[in-house]
Amino acid sequence: MSIQIPRGTQDILPGEVEKWQYIENKARELCGKFQYNEIRTPIFEHTELFTRGVGDTTDIVQKEMYTFTDRGDRSLTLRPEGTASTVRSFVEHKMYGSPNQPVKLFYMGPMFRYERPQAGRFRQFVQFGVEALGSKDPAIDAEVISLAMSIYHSMGLKKLKLIINSLGDKESRAAHRAALMEHFTPRIGEFCKDCQSRLQKNPMRILDCKQDRDHELMKSAPSIIDYLNAESKEYFAKVQKYLTDLHIPFTVDPNLVRGLDYYNHTAFEIMSDAEGFGAITTLCGGGRYNGLTEEIGGPETPGIGFAFSIERFIAALNAEGIELPVNKGIDCYLVSLGEDAKDYTVVLLQKLRLAGFSAERDYLERKIKAQMKAADRLNAKYVAILGDEELNNKVINVKHMESGEQKQIDLESFVEKFQELNQ
Ligand code: HAM
Repeated sequence: MSIQIPRGTQDILPGEVEKWQYIENKARELCGKFQYNEIRTPIFEHTELFTRGVGDTTDIVQKEMYTFTDRGDRSLTLRPEGTASTVRSFVEHKMYGSPNQPVKLFYMGPMFRYERPQAGRFRQFVQFGVEALGSKDPAIDAEVISLAMSIYHSMGLKKLKLIINSLGDKESRAAHRAALMEHFTPRIGEFCKDCQSRLQKNPMRILDCKQDRDHELMKSAPSIIDYLNAESKEYFAKVQKYLTDLHIPFTVDPNLVRGLDYYNHTAFEIMSDAEGFGAITTLCGGGRYNGLTEEIGGPETPGIGFAFSIERFIAALNAEGIELPVNKGIDCYLVSLGEDAKDYTVVLLQKLRLAGFSAERDYLERKIKAQMKAADRLNAKYVAILGDEELNNKVINVKHMESGEQKQIDLESFVEKFQELNQ
């Protein structure tokens, strides 16, 4: 039997990959404008980075990590997300000492989670993410959210819903935690095993349980919004004011708890509102993680960021019927007949390409009709036809495929003339 691709992964083939490149380029371009710089970290890290960073009560750490022991007996894990690695690198390279603060970074690359594969959920997926470290100005929360929205808007997505919540600071969370314990403890026996262990370690995780989400105690659970202290409330109010000033519509959802432990204050998700998007509607998730840097061994540094997967981005584009301007075709296809003409096009093709044009010729000894078909398939703007007779007369016939207009051009100055035609 032939070997097949592992479950939950996919090959991105030519024809499709151009969409990925387009999204990646646009996102990079916008990061440049917003002044976020690229960081590249390894695809695997010491397992402890994620157990400490992401949190050992999360589904990611408990059930989804690709962890292995290397030949040196170290426990390593394929990164399930990018924030912990970015913060590790921030600490390791003492970026907190840089005169440019806050440190604003972006990354892009494959992440790995052993999840149950379904539409929009893969075991290897590509995340694009940003992290801003070193500022607790609520304006940077608004900037990060606005960057995410700008990336979506720049590609024409409209059916988006931004939901935000505040998870408060340490004090607010402690008060909320006590209330949650009081709420769930008497009936915790009715919940799944995971929730039972979450009760002591991190009762907020219960609210994120997929198995027990319809239990009646979920709806009546104490909401973090009611436990925010004055400082957290003021912070959240400022974030909302800035979003309003930036004309970014949002909904406050007090039930939004993210699947990772490091969040506090602002948490947000961007969902697709498009019909037929599928069951998983979250396109992008992020939030503030003051305290994570200390957890990873660095000095006290506030941070906020987000990440989205390109897989879900493309699903959202498809659901809204948006065609990205890719696969636009090539500038010129060189059709040749006769041995000498064929030989001549080898160098002519190179000249065209070096002059900046996308160009192709036949490599399969095809007849003229089949070469024209090949040009059509490549969506060539022009076809240049060279036979031995033209070669003898030092001319070449150039046809504009859309209008059918044809011109005879002096062969020696073909590249310059072709440049003029394309001006
Ligand atoms: P997350 O919510 O776990 O957050 O993931 C962020 C995004 O990654 C999701 O909204 C989704 O677009 C994509 N994603 C996650 N899992 C999958 C999957 N199995 N298949 C396809 N796409 C997936 C984080 O990872 C945080 N590090 C985000 C962050 C950055 N928070 C602060 N800074």
